[in-house]
Amino acid sequence: MTYLVTEACIQCKYTDCVAVCPVDCFHEGPNFLAINPDECIDCGVCVSECPVDAIIADNDVTQDVPFWFKLNKDLSQQWPVISRKKDALPDAEQFKNVIGKIDLLKK
Ligand code: SF4
Ligand code: F3S
Repeated sequence: MTYLVTEACIQCKYTDCVAVCPVDCFHEGPNFLAINPDECIDCGVCVSECPVDAIIADNDVTQDVPFWFKLNKDLSQQWPVISRKKDALPDAEQFKNVIGKIDLLKK
């Protein structure tokens, strides 16, 4: 089992999640974070930290888990680790409730 970052994070990147991860398995891209599924220890503490509820468990039935699993795995292998909270993206408030942001994802 692992946890995964999903669409709500795109163009927001609040980064509250990285401050609590005990194993530093978040990786940072331009406008999204990815969890390395091979390093996540399934502690679940990051879930409630995200202001936009972007983090799901891989048994979530409301999301396309195979899609998000592959995206998190692939991007975590190409992006650097982020282990400290930083400012959210400048337009995070504007994008936090937008549905269908996948086309905005920068890799
Ligand atoms: Fe890190 Fe725990 Fe979240 Fe996995 S579930 S990403 S180990 S804080
Ligand atoms: Fe993204 Fe939420 Fe973390 S918006 S950066 S998953 S706190």
